[in-house]
Amino acid sequence: MAAAIETKKLTKTYRSRQLGKINVVNELDLHVEEGEIFGFLGPNGAGKTTTIKMLLGIIYPTHGEGYVLGREIGDMDVHRVISYLPERPYYYEHMTGFELLKFYDSLFGNHDPDKCQRLLERVNLAGDASKTINQYSKGMQQRVGLAQSLLNDPKLLFLDEPTGGLDPIAHREIRDLILSFRDEGRTVFISSHELSEVELICDRVAIIHKGEIARQGRLTELLKGGRIEITLQGIDEGLARKLATGGTLHNLSDGYMLDMPEEEDVNAVVDTVRSAKGSIVSMVPRKKRLEDLFVETVRAATPGAAPKLAAEGGV
Ligand SMILES: Nc1ncnc2c1ncn2[C@@H]1O[C@H](COP(=O)(O)OP(=O)(O)O)[C@@H](O)[C@H]1O
Ligand SMILES: [Mg+2]
Repeated sequence: MAAAIETKKLTKTYRSRQLGKINVVNELDLHVEEGEIFGFLGPNGAGKTTTIKMLLGIIYPTHGEGYVLGREIGDMDVHRVISYLPERPYYYEHMTGFELLKFYDSLFGNHDPDKCQRLLERVNLAGDASKTINQYSKGMQQRVGLAQSLLNDPKLLFLDEPTGGLDPIAHREIRDLILSFRDEGRTVFISSHELSEVELICDRVAIIHKGEIARQGRLTELLKGGRIEITLQGIDEGLARKLATGGTLHNLSDGYMLDMPEEEDVNAVVDTVRSAKGSIVSMVPRKKRLEDLFVETVRAATPGAAPKLAAEGGV
């Protein structure tokens, strides 16, 4: 599959009086495939917005290269087929939702009120089309922003923290909309520090920390290595110890709990327990979560801890 975004050593340096020269984005090698939802994750100040702005040609890289849909960054023609929902969009508050979409449509040289109406329906705002933006909740403003980001039927959408500060229902609405973009074959580049959100929808992620990529890869690969907890009864301690070779054994008041890596042979444990006339009370997978990976990654990349992690590209 072709790359929707590719960067090579993309770097942005700022100078400040107090701190001198700082690489807020440092030698970033990103690879985003066409048609995927890509999560660009990192704590506040990690360099996410700065990277997005470089990819959009809003600010210039200090050095390095970047390509968006095969075009070198800075090539403004690509804006016909990409869109951007900023972290803090600024809308004309006294316009209605419908007027806002018509206005942005006109910036593309179009005048298609039917399309604007359809897009408002799509983001579930048809009933609020004649309310002004200052009457919209934050969730509604994000949805009108997503409608606006679809006006030019983009192949690639940049969404900078699209669920920031929203309640759980609004989160879900936004998430479902983003998934529907992928279903239509669009590529979505979404920056976020809300990991539980991203975990649910992203195909691949990059974790950025202090301007550098600490991890990059397919989420399913990065989150490998979960554990499984098996609670057992009716077996003797000797057998329990034998079963625990690949994991850890915990004594319970009425049995044992075996905590083992999920790649261990769970079936063999089940067979052994059953043939010893013991019983399996429960088996609970403890999936590795993005948050665990994130904390591990950030800790490992902190000075004084383990050396800087290599990007895992090519997954
Ligand atoms: N114009 C600027 N001048 C100096 N420093 C900046 C500028 N823009 C951003 N920064 C700094 O770059 C770092 C990364 O910022 P940003 O890309 O906005 O992070 P994120 O979006 O991940 O929260 C921050 O430390 C921020 O203060
Ligand atoms: Mg930001």
